[in-house]
Amino acid sequence: MHTSAHDGLLRVQGLNAGYGKIQILHDIDMVVGPGEIVALLGPNGAGKSTLMRALSGLLPWMSGDVWFDGKSLRGSTPRDAAQAGLVHVIEGHHVFTQLSVHDNLALAGYDIGGSERQARIRDALAFFPEIAAKIKERAGALSGGQQQMLVVAQGLVKRPRLLILDEPSAGLSPVLVDRVFEVAARLRDSGTSVLLVEQLVEKSLALADRVYAMAHGEIVLQANAREADLQTRLEEAYFGHHVAA
Ligand SMILES: Nc1ncnc2c1ncn2[C@@H]1O[C@H](COP(=O)(O)OP(=O)(O)O)[C@@H](O)[C@H]1O
Ligand SMILES: [Mg+2]
Repeated sequence: MHTSAHDGLLRVQGLNAGYGKIQILHDIDMVVGPGEIVALLGPNGAGKSTLMRALSGLLPWMSGDVWFDGKSLRGSTPRDAAQAGLVHVIEGHHVFTQLSVHDNLALAGYDIGGSERQARIRDALAFFPEIAAKIKERAGALSGGQQQMLVVAQGLVKRPRLLILDEPSAGLSPVLVDRVFEVAARLRDSGTSVLLVEQLVEKSLALADRVYAMAHGEIVLQANAREADLQTRLEEAYFGHHVAA
């Protein structure tokens, strides 16, 4: 495959990373193009969240490189990455239940000037009418599903060019999962890229343009989400048979 730092919005090349001396990620290559939804699938413990942390500046790299919009993210903090447009909604993130919906959103935009921040809060809430109606209420008064939507809205306040959602469906009812996936589709329509980490294979394949699968810290499959037999190929890839992409 031809690769250069300038192809794709996000380009990961030969990335190795882990915790202390323990290497978890092995030689990861991945591309996310502009306006694309890419699903990252894989069993529990595969290294998906570790990869997302490495991309967004939460975890240092051992070797390899990551480019965002043609610039290396080497040494970037999460704040640097977010300012460049790479916004990571971390797995299992919780809102501040004692603060209002509005103040949770304002906190996500703490480093943005006042009037601009209000405009972004309005834009983020436009995706979630069910929480927009409760903007003055304590976040703790929202349902669990609404709190999870508020977490996604916090990511939107940062105006992502690439939004990373790590298991946004966890704990949500099927109806609310559909709501979150619908928001991802609307983001794509507006030109925002989405990197969706999920365990829900069927729904993710229906939404995504392309898919990667990880197992034991390696990318074991990459495919167009419309390719035939993908579910079978994914299962085989999870269980260690090498499957050509
Ligand atoms: N903070 C940490 N310190 C040490 N090991 C970790 C840490 N977080 C995750 N791991 C290990 O890294 C591996 C990948 O975990 P993770 O990235 O959370 O997988 P996934 O998101 O695919 O479920 C697992 O073996 C897990 O035990
Ligand atoms: Mg995870």
